[in-house]
Amino acid sequence: MPVILGIESSCDETAAAIIRDGKLLANVVAGQDVHRQWGGVIPELASRAHQQHIVPVIDKTLKEAKVANEEIDAVAFTRGPGLLGSLLVGTSFAKAFALALDKPLIEVNHMQAHILAHFIEDENFLKKPKFPLLCLTVSGGHTQLVQVSDPYTFEVLGETIDDAAGETFDKVAKILGLPYPGGPVVDKLAKTGDAHAFKFPVSRVGDLDFSFSGLKTSVLYFVRDQLKNDPEFVAKNVNDICASVQYTIIKTLLARLEEAAAKTGIRQIALAGGVSANSGLRNALEKLGEEKNWDVFIPPFAYTTDNAAMIAMTGYFKFLKNDFVGQETAPLARYYIGS
Ligand code: KG4
Ligand code: ZN
Repeated sequence: MPVILGIESSCDETAAAIIRDGKLLANVVAGQDVHRQWGGVIPELASRAHQQHIVPVIDKTLKEAKVANEEIDAVAFTRGPGLLGSLLVGTSFAKAFALALDKPLIEVNHMQAHILAHFIEDENFLKKPKFPLLCLTVSGGHTQLVQVSDPYTFEVLGETIDDAAGETFDKVAKILGLPYPGGPVVDKLAKTGDAHAFKFPVSRVGDLDFSFSGLKTSVLYFVRDQLKNDPEFVAKNVNDICASVQYTIIKTLLARLEEAAAKTGIRQIALAGGVSANSGLRNALEKLGEEKNWDVFIPPFAYTTDNAAMIAMTGYFKFLKNDFVGQETAPLARYYIGS
């Protein structure tokens, strides 16, 4: 019955979680409001906030889980990808904690963890995917189609060649003068907008790859041109613009997912990453899954954006294989999922 402490600090969430034998005992996330006024994550401010949050977050997690330090069997931490200064805080804490407790250390790839969140024992997860699994991972920094053969084997079938889907939501929100992070705001406004009010381009690049920079630019030019005729254009049409952009992002993502499923023959289809919180995407994937007769796995909201439960879960799988690392392990700003 291994007890794993997971630590996540790759971007702007300081998080810790404890899993016992795959079951979640505590899951604590501290966000960082400091970035809001800048309209995006400022790396230096993120590192400083992690430094302030890490001890109280770990403390709260241990208390909520009712787990004593000595009961922890291993410390898992996000090694990358992410902001190096942020990763350093979590990595250094994990190393010091493991050293002090004389417990093994487990390094975790953040993108693998988003996918393996689907295996957390949680009453909100009604069913578990089987392998091989095809996952559409959509976050602020990544957009990938990943074939997962088992909890240790990941192959990227396609990915974005420029902006990530989450980044596109955030940049479009910025163009529209909406606060950061843009994804949840666009999602909310889109609910009462007309998805067909405005037409934006659906890009087609590479085999199973994605591109979102053209969409972002076309929204930028469209808004700029409309504002010339009517300075109130955005204010009057923000819901329709959000709905139309969201529709285009979803269409782009699901077209590729459909192709990847056809190509691989895989019918176990999962969604992961921060953008998997998007209600339009969740609904559209459910619908497509019914049409295609796929088994669709959509994470509960708590496991969509960054959290440490997914880090602890990945740590648990690695613990079962005695896959430990030494104190010399350094964080990696770039860390390819298949490596
Ligand atoms: O996975 P995540 O928490 O962090 C990274 O690893 O990047 O993803 C954050 C991204 C942000 O771009 C945010 O705008 C987006 O997820 N996001 C959403 C929604 N909630 C978060 N995008 C669309 N709709 C949402 N409801
Ligand atoms: Zn993430």
